[in-house]
Amino acid sequence: MTADTLTVTDNRTGTSYEIPIENGAINASHLRQIKASEGDFGLMSYDPGFLNTASCHSRITYIDGDVGILRYRGYPIEQLAEESTYLETTYLIFHGELPTAAELEDWSWNINHHTLLHENIKKFIDGFKYDAHPMGTLVSSIAALSTFYPDSKNIFDPESQRKQVFRLMGKIPTVAAFVYRHAIGLPYAYPDNDLSYTGNFLNMLYKMTELKYSPDPVLEKALDVLFILHADHEQNCSTNAMRNVGSSQTDPYSALAGAAAALYGPLHGGANEMVLRMLAEIGSTDKVPAFIKGVKAGEGRLMGFGHRVYKNYDPRAKVIKRIADQVFEVTGRNPLLDIALELERIALEDDYFIQRKLYPNVDFYSGLIYQSMGLPVSMFPVLFAIARTSGWLAQWIEMLEDPEQKLARPRQLYLGSDVRDYVPMNRRQAA
Ligand code: CMC
Repeated sequence: MTADTLTVTDNRTGTSYEIPIENGAINASHLRQIKASEGDFGLMSYDPGFLNTASCHSRITYIDGDVGILRYRGYPIEQLAEESTYLETTYLIFHGELPTAAELEDWSWNINHHTLLHENIKKFIDGFKYDAHPMGTLVSSIAALSTFYPDSKNIFDPESQRKQVFRLMGKIPTVAAFVYRHAIGLPYAYPDNDLSYTGNFLNMLYKMTELKYSPDPVLEKALDVLFILHADHEQNCSTNAMRNVGSSQTDPYSALAGAAAALYGPLHGGANEMVLRMLAEIGSTDKVPAFIKGVKAGEGRLMGFGHRVYKNYDPRAKVIKRIADQVFEVTGRNPLLDIALELERIALEDDYFIQRKLYPNVDFYSGLIYQSMGLPVSMFPVLFAIARTSGWLAQWIEMLEDPEQKLARPRQLYLGSDVRDYVPMNRRQAA
């Protein structure tokens, strides 16, 4: 008879322990009973970077990285990208089910009617230098929003949670667009609630003197699909930051600023920006073999390749590659595409990349699309942040509703000095 337990023998003491296995995992706290002596703290698990540690139960996103599967609430990402819209997908992510027509209308209306910013927000965006990185300005602006909505501190009140979701999802595109307009010295373009979520974002980015902006339907749709692909990705670095900061019971604006800051880094959401910088630096397809040689020699990483979870082609990258062609029909072909295709071709045939299971990830092609739409590379992580806001918030609510969740506070393995006496300055020697 098999039991759902793990038997562990501690060879220091010869004692055996039986530890329950639930949902394919053991509870790390159960290790604490394993002690070498009476006063022993008990065994811990050591896992820098959380390579093999589940920090929560979740019912939102499922990934099987070995075969390249991504699903939101059970629905395959390919079907959502094909059939759904970003706002419908976000409803699904928050509620667990696809909305009826009336539910979707209500959801969309509420988000689209929270797009305006308090006028003071423009003033502090104005205070940033023209060349401030848009992610720095975005992160600071999101954090500042918490001071405008002190009611958001009622984090356990479902009505308040709902309100902050509408506010944040409605306002993030406005902040992002204002950040962009500030950088290029254009007056801010206000939201137009008649337009779709992405149509309105394009309006706030690109509206000039026309009375009403009409987004190109192909670009509007492409951006919508990109937002669907980026909406959630289970316990990635920024979502973990959202849950970590949120676990101290701070307000969602402060927690979301922390998540956006985590996204900023080049190993996470900043990778799409680094891909474009890398492609521009390579310059032409004939330089690709030398670049790959350099990567293999440890001179840098092939940005947009590799993933902590996917050890196969990132399913999002496949969808993006398809929509890139549609976008390029409108905008003209991005000249860097050929370099990207050549990099992918050579890398996928190369033993270094095959052995390490390094495939293109979501960021490899997304930047090419954003650039063709006229956005500067520094805005790419900002677009990622707009789309991921829904996932961060849904995961934050899931955390608040989970009775097993606590203040995030990892342990450490202390390897520093043992206790010693303070040395007065006149008796110290340079190391
Ligand atoms: N180019 C070259 N070598 C790589 C790359 C890469 N992009 N990624 C991983 N490796 C190598 C790495 O050097 C190591 O080799 P070795 O075993 O010889 O030391 C091996 O593959 C394993 O790498 P790792 O850093 O231990 O793996 P990880 O799971 O910690 O890293 C990653 C995942 C995404 C940080 C990494 O693949 C990477 O830096 N990729 C480039 C940045 C990037 O595209 N990030 C976007 C991720 S997708 C968007 C998102 O969800 O954030």
